[in-house]
Amino acid sequence: MNNRLFTPLKIGPNLLDHRVVMAPLTRMRAAQPGDIPRPLNATYYAQRASRGGLIIAEASQVSPVAQGVPASPGIYSREQVEGWRQVTEAVHKEGGVIYLQLWHVGRVSHSSLQPGQSLPVAPSAIPAEGQAITANFEFSPFEIPRELQISEIVDIVGAFSHAARNAHDAGFDGVEIHGANGYLAEQFLQSRSNHRSDVYGGSIANRSRFLLEVTDAVVGVYGRDRVGVRLSPYGRAYGSGETEPIPLYRHVIHELAKREIGYLHLIEPRSSGSGRADVDHKDVPSAAELFRRDWPGVLIAAGNFSPETAAQAVDRGIADAIAFGRHFIANPDLPERLRSQSPLNPYNRATFYGGNEEGYTDYPALPFSDRPT
Ligand code: FNR
Repeated sequence: MNNRLFTPLKIGPNLLDHRVVMAPLTRMRAAQPGDIPRPLNATYYAQRASRGGLIIAEASQVSPVAQGVPASPGIYSREQVEGWRQVTEAVHKEGGVIYLQLWHVGRVSHSSLQPGQSLPVAPSAIPAEGQAITANFEFSPFEIPRELQISEIVDIVGAFSHAARNAHDAGFDGVEIHGANGYLAEQFLQSRSNHRSDVYGGSIANRSRFLLEVTDAVVGVYGRDRVGVRLSPYGRAYGSGETEPIPLYRHVIHELAKREIGYLHLIEPRSSGSGRADVDHKDVPSAAELFRRDWPGVLIAAGNFSPETAAQAVDRGIADAIAFGRHFIANPDLPERLRSQSPLNPYNRATFYGGNEEGYTDYPALPFSDRPT
């Protein structure tokens, strides 16, 4: 197919060969104890690598407190850095480019996952909605989180900076800050989860402060053009959702634009954060279309794209690249399949989270693919 998905795109210093990006995908398959990436994870990412293709590796906790589900990988310990190095080397060997998504879940956690079985932390003592996943992979109601003190917020910004330095040591080409899907940065941004009366709460500028401080800290490590930020202005995850998203997100996007970071990654409202169910908020606009004019840089869009709608969005200039989640889980050679208009393997939701090879490294590539299987 001769569409703009298969034209080059520069992100930071990397010249991509195509615009089919692998979205960050939590798979809960890190080695235990220690939440350490293992050789199986390197095989999975290498299968999905393509020459000049961008992979955004799964959300990784920046500290033990930042963790929200069992067996998600971390990026705070030496062992985790060594584990991730095997992943980046395997992807680079295939000619791919790989970023790491940096994650703090805030209140979307459970005391069984926290150091000393403490309560999860958040901007305000307001629980997330829905069910937490415990350290034993069971569902449990979310607890009321403990409100962070200002000195602790400063420490979390420091943890992002430390994590970025670790990601750099592990060989990642850049990092993406997780500012979406109901996690800590979004808990600060949105008025439903942030009732603070200090400099981190109240006005839009104050609620945006945490995300922008994290961005500045990470830019201090990687340089501005190797840093991306992911936002979900119309998302609904764990009790998130701003009544009037436009003024808030316009402010955040303008502030990020001033910082000239490498890319902005917007999640369309028509998909769920976790992929547990298919949702389609028909009454809300396309985030990429809405905020395109506020963002002068590279824009990646994600959320329920098909091969056809992805090609259309890039052809129409609504986004510069499209990130695929579920299709990339089931199709290790997704860029080649889209290029050749080949059929896609269906994904199996039951094996998204936890486990080993099944539903992870055993999806077949097309015979013509030269990817490792
Ligand atoms: C996700 N998603 C996600 N988002 C994110 O920012 N960090 C993450 O670690 C994850 N983890 C994750 C795991 C699984 C199994 C799924 C299905 C989804 C959301 C994902 O990146 C993407 O935005 C959505 O899946 C929508 O894109 P698709 O799947 O419709 O192409």
